Amino acid sequence: MTEPLFRIDNLRLSLPDMTRKPLFGPAPRIEILKGLTFDIAAGSTIGIVGESGSGKSTLGRALVRLYEPTGGAIGFDGQDITHLSDAALRPLRRDLQVIFQDPFSSLNPRKSVGAIIAAPLLFHRVATSGADSRARVAAALGAVGLPRAFASRYPHELSGGQRQRVGIARAIALSPRFVLADEIVSGLDVSSQAQILDLLARLKDELKLTLAFISHDLSVVRRLCNRVIVMRGGEIVENRDTAALFDAPEHPYTRQLLAAIPLPEIDPGWLEAG
Ligand SMILES: Nc1ncnc2c1ncn2[C@@H]1O[C@H](COP(=O)(O)OP(=O)(O)O)[C@@H](O)[C@H]1O
Ligand SMILES: [Mg+2]
Repeated sequence: MTEPLFRIDNLRLSLPDMTRKPLFGPAPRIEILKGLTFDIAAGSTIGIVGESGSGKSTLGRALVRLYEPTGGAIGFDGQDITHLSDAALRPLRRDLQVIFQDPFSSLNPRKSVGAIIAAPLLFHRVATSGADSRARVAAALGAVGLPRAFASRYPHELSGGQRQRVGIARAIALSPRFVLADEIVSGLDVSSQAQILDLLARLKDELKLTLAFISHDLSVVRRLCNRVIVMRGGEIVENRDTAALFDAPEHPYTRQLLAAIPLPEIDPGWLEAG
């Protein structure tokens, strides 16, 4: 047995509830993650599913320490990262990358694609010169199937699928160990979705990434993930191998989610045509 990349032990997270903040004094806190325990095996793809508001994004943000847990522990690569300071986290940030849901809001509209991909390379001092940075940007664009000339384009000039490719390029340019993808194909049409998922699966193998894939769409998760965590109300209701989960879901809530997967669309004229 190899050591899992992540060890999550009784993870709790509460945030101030701004909607109930009194005029004076602190806002009351609401508990969003209610004691989650699970591992993420190195090199695996874990799916995190559940209805909207179940805590998927909050869990993802806690994993990459964009949030500090209020209880429990997060072990990453054998190190306890639960309460590391920003300064102590900085060298780890390279290994903990995120691709966000909405490429529109996650890509700075005033920066060129090249500058967007180069920013983390420069921040982490991975790029050693301007020429090195440009070469690394070109390589990252190539890896996600975009021409290197795209470096001089701006986000508004790109399609949704192209923008999401830029998001992926930015995340993988640093050769991270872990990538969190939060609803990254939700806004895309079905064929762009399939292309992005294929790309992610290929890069995961090539770069030996460990991937956490958040989605409310179980058909997407089935295609990509080795293991699936089902969340409801800030708790894990099921944590199983993908095949086992889809063959014989144990929890009634999981069965409900599975039943909600839309069937493939059938052309209304198919009977007549046959
Ligand atoms: N910054 C925040 N402050 C207060 N409550 C939040 C915050 N972010 C999320 N929540 C609440 O936490 C719950 C889980 O949210 P989230 O993790 O975004 O769920 P999901 O990604 O599964 O849709 C929701 O009830 C949401 O309203
Ligand atoms: Mg979310």
